Amino acid sequence: MTLSPALPTVRPTVGPALRCPDCGAHPVLTPTPSQPLPGGTFGLLRCACTTYPQIDDIPVLRRGRIDSQDHLTGRCEVAGPTADELVALLAADRPLDALVALLAFPPPAPSSRPGLRLPFTRGPWPRVALAARRAEVRAMLAEHDRLTAQDWMELAYARSSDRIDDELLPYFLARFGQPRFLATMSLLQALPSLPDDASRPVLDLACGFGHVAHHLAARRDPRAVVGVDRNFLQLWVARRYVAPSQRFVCADRVDALPFDDDAFAASVCSDAFHYFDVQQGALDELRRVAVADTVLLDRLGNVRLAPTDGPLERDAAGYVRLLRGAPWRLTCEDELLADYLAGYGPQLASPRHPAELDAAKWLMLVTSTDPRVFADHGAFAEPPHAAGRPTLNPVFEVTPDDDGVELAFRFPSTWYAFENAAMRGYTSAGERLDASTYAALLAGRPSERTADLLRGFVLLGMPERYRRPPGGSGPSVVRGLARGLLRR
Ligand SMILES: C[S@@+](CC[C@H](N)C(=O)[O-])C[C@H]1O[C@@H](n2cnc3c(N)ncnc32)[C@H](O)[C@@H]1O
Repeated sequence: MTLSPALPTVRPTVGPALRCPDCGAHPVLTPTPSQPLPGGTFGLLRCACTTYPQIDDIPVLRRGRIDSQDHLTGRCEVAGPTADELVALLAADRPLDALVALLAFPPPAPSSRPGLRLPFTRGPWPRVALAARRAEVRAMLAEHDRLTAQDWMELAYARSSDRIDDELLPYFLARFGQPRFLATMSLLQALPSLPDDASRPVLDLACGFGHVAHHLAARRDPRAVVGVDRNFLQLWVARRYVAPSQRFVCADRVDALPFDDDAFAASVCSDAFHYFDVQQGALDELRRVAVADTVLLDRLGNVRLAPTDGPLERDAAGYVRLLRGAPWRLTCEDELLADYLAGYGPQLASPRHPAELDAAKWLMLVTSTDPRVFADHGAFAEPPHAAGRPTLNPVFEVTPDDDGVELAFRFPSTWYAFENAAMRGYTSAGERLDASTYAALLAGRPSERTADLLRGFVLLGMPERYRRPPGGSGPSVVRGLARGLLRR
């Protein structure tokens, strides 16, 4: 399983040195002889104790099966290849097969009715269906530079295994205009500026599809980010489409982060910390890897208020206790959102008693030994949601007519509406655009309506290759599989 010793060895391409979560050594990368995707390096990462795969620039520091796991419970949603299988494929110089194995989620069984479903879960069907999906993924990879993040999100969440919660599609695709994301962008104003060492990136733990990494790359005061998550497909879409200038690592041990002490300017964890079953270990690690122990915990569920987001939520005092006496400030999503809509960043100068936040569902906790982090931030120089290419918010339905389009706000699902009800308070109910304004909008060109549409959250700053233009046919399992098979 070893590559030819004549091949060059290089350091992994991930900004700060990677550290094996088990032996603590810095792995050394041996690239595979073939490199199937432009700009990405595939290879084997060797440390003192093991060999890890690196797939298209993403080190996979996991052992055993690299499943796609449910966000909340960690339950396996899609069984993936094992780390050893990936290492064997790379050692045999089959890097594209390794990537396909990670991205090809099986299609759903053609019927979900218990009696009719059985034949599709046994015998040859699952193997045939997976082979067809692999062909489809290969076809998508062959034209990956013409696709968008939306195409891959739909593949994973609208056209794959019925064990995957289909609410994940609107949750991630229509993320940039959500109340929680406005609050996140506001909180990110509190990241310390380090004139002495601006080259240190920010760690985004449990980064999902890299929405935070995109924002930090695109905003006026850009920051390099290393995003870590356990779900490989999300990271790959982040690396290729959502935040291609940032770095990503696939790892699942939040209490053994694969980085040296003080590797980062700060650590961020957004909308995920309350899922972790090792919260004390995770917070100790987030502090260890950040200069001045600076950590921004964004959107922590408050157990005092139903519905809870899983069984591991705490109240404000409970989260503060995890800090072991380090200095902190607390605020909440509702306060950040109200200040955001008034044009202001986070107010962190004044200490609060945790009990003051008992009635807030979504808490934000900032800790640092650098007192400069605890400041009241003034008016935004530009609204944070303008950072990126101005793109139509996916919650708008588009109806073309003879001389333009009608845009109408529609929540994509009942659950999305419940979770994001506050959007109605600041997002336009609908707009009419003439044909030339709409054409400019689709091309990403500014028009005289751009500022006004950004004010109404009709346009949002997004990555260049995030959404397909509206219209066209929706996701279809059969069409996708047929395209892959025809291409093969
Ligand atoms: C609700 S999503 C939030 C994603 C992202 N932070 C955002 O705000 O868009 C929660 C994320 O936590 C990740 N996650 C949960 N437990 C994890 C663990 N032990 N290690 C790495 N990632 C984890 C999930 O894979 C998922 O991407």
